[in-house]
Amino acid sequence: MSWVDIGALDAVPERGARLVKTQMGCVAVFRTGHEEVFAASNTCPHKGGPLAEGIVHGQSVTCPLHNWVFDLNTGEAKGEDGRIDTYPVRVEAGRILIDARTLAARSAA
Ligand code: FES
Repeated sequence: MSWVDIGALDAVPERGARLVKTQMGCVAVFRTGHEEVFAASNTCPHKGGPLAEGIVHGQSVTCPLHNWVFDLNTGEAKGEDGRIDTYPVRVEAGRILIDARTLAARSAA
């Protein structure tokens, strides 16, 4: 893994999300709990809804357009045929770090 800093944990509201621009493209960063974050594609595979504007609940996000629900651990849509890319992230000293290699590999794919 190759961790890069993509911003402060405090920039993402608890039970909320932010779209973060990185050198390898935009990712949606979701904060589900005090120090728990997930990163995934911002684009819903159904009709392109902006997932960073979705509703975060538990370890899932609901797309704001037509309410598809994605598991942020696996990226799988619940009860639908679709998935989003997810990226390894971790929190260290109040900063969010993402695995740049996974991000680069998926954005190049
Ligand atoms: S675009 Fe996300 S559910 Fe339709």
